[in-house]
Amino acid sequence: MSVSVPQWLTHPRFRNWTAWLQRMVSNPIAAVSLAGVIVLIIAMTQIAFVVVDQWSERDIEVRSSLVFRSISDSVKHGLEVKPKFTLGPYFEQLADDERLLALGYCDGDGKLLYATRNMPKSVTCPDATVRGDSFFRLSDGGRPISVAVFPLPAGEGGGELLVLHDLTVTQRRAHDAELYMALALIGVAGGLGLLGAAVVSVLMRGWTSAFRSAIANVSRGAPPGPRLPEPPIGRDIQALLSELRLERRYTNGIHVEWSPKTLHQLLVEELPGAQVMVVSNREPYIHNQDKDGVVSVQIPASGLVSALEPVMRACGGVWIAHGSGSADRDSVDRNDRVAVPPDNPAYSLRRVWLSEEEQDGYYYGFANEGMWPLCHVAFVRPIFREADWAHYVAVNRRFADAVVQEAQREDPIVLVQDYHFAMLPRMIREKLPRATIITFWHIPWPNSETFSICPWREQIIDGLLGSSILGFHTRFHCNNFLEGVDRFMESRIDRERNSVTLAGLETLVRSYPISIEWPPAALARQAPVAECRRAVIERFGLKPDVRIAVGIERFDYTKGIVDRMIAVQTLLDRAPEWRGKLVFLQAAAPTRSKLESYSSLQSEAIKTADAINAKYGDGDYKPIVLSIRHHEPDEVYELFRAADICVVSSLHDGMNLVSKEFIAARDDEQGVLMLSSFAGASRELSEAVIVNPYDSHGMADAFDFALRMPPEAQRARIRAMRDLVRQRNVHLWAAQMLLDAARMRRRTAVAETA
Ligand code: F6P
Repeated sequence: MSVSVPQWLTHPRFRNWTAWLQRMVSNPIAAVSLAGVIVLIIAMTQIAFVVVDQWSERDIEVRSSLVFRSISDSVKHGLEVKPKFTLGPYFEQLADDERLLALGYCDGDGKLLYATRNMPKSVTCPDATVRGDSFFRLSDGGRPISVAVFPLPAGEGGGELLVLHDLTVTQRRAHDAELYMALALIGVAGGLGLLGAAVVSVLMRGWTSAFRSAIANVSRGAPPGPRLPEPPIGRDIQALLSELRLERRYTNGIHVEWSPKTLHQLLVEELPGAQVMVVSNREPYIHNQDKDGVVSVQIPASGLVSALEPVMRACGGVWIAHGSGSADRDSVDRNDRVAVPPDNPAYSLRRVWLSEEEQDGYYYGFANEGMWPLCHVAFVRPIFREADWAHYVAVNRRFADAVVQEAQREDPIVLVQDYHFAMLPRMIREKLPRATIITFWHIPWPNSETFSICPWREQIIDGLLGSSILGFHTRFHCNNFLEGVDRFMESRIDRERNSVTLAGLETLVRSYPISIEWPPAALARQAPVAECRRAVIERFGLKPDVRIAVGIERFDYTKGIVDRMIAVQTLLDRAPEWRGKLVFLQAAAPTRSKLESYSSLQSEAIKTADAINAKYGDGDYKPIVLSIRHHEPDEVYELFRAADICVVSSLHDGMNLVSKEFIAARDDEQGVLMLSSFAGASRELSEAVIVNPYDSHGMADAFDFALRMPPEAQRARIRAMRDLVRQRNVHLWAAQMLLDAARMRRRTAVAETA
């Protein structure tokens, strides 16, 4: 039931009451109670009126009888004993009263012998056949009159005394009494009604919370708990269920299996008509041309891409990125756009072109020689050059211009990705003040002491604080950021809301642990595990019964690739039984090879592998196999499925999605994940074998432990992790940020209308 309220009731003073009233009447139980109360008031008022009427009638009869009894003897005596007695003056004297209108005497022949002068003309003596006291009412020119007739035999024969009362006064008093009584009844009934509504509402709340806790128990796999009280009627249940559904879906959403569909639904319901844009350095699809002129599409080895690509497939919109492929320019339209994914387009990729000089300064220089080592504790010295910084700022400006060009409305939702774009949020904010800018920092954020070595630390923080929301993988990195803000900026930090307000603009600083799509698209194309294993053994020329450990990532010094080789060597030193039986297979995609820190890592890794193979290899057996090239997702998933162990030994990592992809790849619930305690993923995947990559002996023990782990124990661990990654998938990651964005937009809209 919906109820419209008059305009004046929407005044703030009444708003709460009207809202309450609307809620009340929208609730069937409350509406029925209210209707019952109204009917009760009407019925009781009617009864009260009848009672008052009867009471005043009776009062007049009693008064008339009193008058009669007090004068009957005098009248009788006068008429019998004193022949000269005349009743006229006597009656006039008696009738001098507010309510006593007239007195009269009728003789036995029905003749009015005496009457006071107020006696209405319409009054005649009653029929002689009427015996005994009688009372009746008549109207004299609209004036209500009560007539009481009392037999009074006197003198020669019978007679009657007439006592007349003017009922005007009596009726006025009766109406007053009725009014007061009605008001009193309304008050009492209203009070009782409110009390009843309050009781109903308390009972409803009790039922609702019992229902909720039963559902929560069931969701956790626990029994529902004590028996539920009788439920309220259908519509309430429906409202309750839809509220629960929204709560479960949207409040942290852990119970919902987030999918492209639910994410899309969230956009439609919570951010209707919003335009979504992603900005990242790395593009999701790279068009490359080989030496024969054949163009192929490559999906880069990038955690950022594997996380955001499924989100964009679900949301649609524009992804703005650096066009880095050799055939990229040939595959775009005149607006530098290309529809992707190539086989089933769902969104638009807008490419930004950078000169080699710009790339050197912005990407290789400031981003990867400055920010990357600054943020990762990997003991590689950050390098800050003035010229790199200038390019970084200029390229950020180029991307800001692209965002403005692509914006179809003044308030798009812009998802800015990573350390390449610290200045971009502020630049977008200046051009599109109403945009919702969600910046996600995919790498760790250092403590303020470490961060302080950056010569442009204030500018970087200021740039990021142009965001509406700034996300990190972990609470720890949020805290490091807030510590830096506290130390270097004049701003207000709200620890309760986890936000920073700078020059009147508030930025929420939140943790959103990134994840992967579930199930991963590449998994659908995979053969059964045994076949994958056979294929890998064949491809790398391994013995059929070999135990395989894999490492798969970009060839980056933060990944601890050399450290894990040393750990394998330590294991083979200390546990000779594994020689000839264990192969560590490292798939490493070359990355940033222009930089000395990366090229020297490759050389070091190759040298280390050669040394270990020389020491422990035997004939065709090599304990370390290095595959240094780009691996497409299908190959990566095949390797995951072939492995007994997956090693993720990052020296420092924001999250690390390889660990989650390995978990997702193992639908056979076998395999062991060795995971660095310095990867953000270790906060979530606690059933992994957690290792310190700097401790080669500890790592060797972990290898031994993993190799001996019984299948049942592997199943228990991987099953728990699969549950978690399935629930906390990348659609949840995106949903949490978009929901926070939706709340912010609603708050802004409300503030603007107030
Ligand atoms: O770890 C942060 C991150 O942006 C990853 O998402 C991505 O894999 C990598 O850094 C960037 O790699 P590249 O420089 O090759 O794009």
